[in-house]
Amino acid sequence: MRARTSDIEKAAGVLRAGGLVAFPTETVYGLGADAEDSAAVARVFQVKGRPPSHPLIVHIGGAEHLGDWAWNVPTSARLLAERFWPGPLTLVLRRGRRVPLEATGGLETVAVRVPDHPVALALLAAFGGGVAAPSANRFGSVSPTTAHHVRAELGDAVDFVLDGGPCEVGVESTIVDATGDTLSVLRPGGVTREDLEAVLGCPLAVHSTSRVRVPGQHPSHYAPRARVVLVEPEKVVAEAELAQDLGHQVGVFLPPSFADAPVKAHAVVAVPDSMAAYAHGLYGFLRELDQQGCDLIVASLPVEEGLGLAIANRLRRAAGPRPSE
Ligand code: TXA
Ligand code: MG
Repeated sequence: MRARTSDIEKAAGVLRAGGLVAFPTETVYGLGADAEDSAAVARVFQVKGRPPSHPLIVHIGGAEHLGDWAWNVPTSARLLAERFWPGPLTLVLRRGRRVPLEATGGLETVAVRVPDHPVALALLAAFGGGVAAPSANRFGSVSPTTAHHVRAELGDAVDFVLDGGPCEVGVESTIVDATGDTLSVLRPGGVTREDLEAVLGCPLAVHSTSRVRVPGQHPSHYAPRARVVLVEPEKVVAEAELAQDLGHQVGVFLPPSFADAPVKAHAVVAVPDSMAAYAHGLYGFLRELDQQGCDLIVASLPVEEGLGLAIANRLRRAAGPRPSE
């Protein structure tokens, strides 16, 4: 879905005036501010309720602008940018002077990506600068994959919402740390590890657990209101029915191999067979079960390869201990 030219112009004007624009990307909706405007960037943190030490991603219009935002970019990172941009890949690099420390949470590194969405690219072209944007949800909750999700969650706190239809990929970008001697994956996402390794010609470490201290990678993240419990696929039905019998309003993520199993629960989501369809629908499913009044979601993890790695990462975090625990 393409936004009208007048909407793009209006959104670019809002950014220039120091305002906040929610915009679609191929992964999830972002909450954008002029990356060089410290006050606007500070408002992003305020609206999200996000601690100021958690860095944002700077969205740029093309790989040719990379040198404006980062320096000392290794050849391997350039190779990945060439191959996967525009696309769901974020590169963590040495911070260029143009990027204020507010956007990087005080770090000397910066995360940069070129989103693969016609509306995002049109906005970046009309604006001309970099747009610092986290996902357009409140801190810790599920990322929005439609403009409706953004409006429902952030309402008037955003100056303008660009509607570009539902996000195709549905989970966030893959974050690759390219600041050390060897590249590593900080967050699995829309570009698979297998795809990255095929281009680099070598295996990549994946640091998607709390072993690595990356601001913004809390154990509990991407969480719906309902508590999430993960069990083996063959135990999903029994676990859900037990909890329902105990008085919970249970939402079930029914694995594809049990699609025909009758299950007594408050709400049931049939998990798609294809990982692309699962990733595309994941956050919408979680929101839907919240909306239907579920207080407990029973799910299992997919096989952790390809996009399954990103889906499993988000489910684990959704099931992680909540901040109050
Ligand atoms: O697909 C996406 O990446 C979406 C769309 C809107 O582009 N954005 C997104 O932003 O997911 P956010 O803020 O929700 O997640 C950004 C992640 C955070 O976990 C943060 O820790 C990491 O990027 N990050 C940003 N800058 C970093 C840096 N300099 N070093 C390490 N991690 C960084
Ligand atoms: Mg986020």
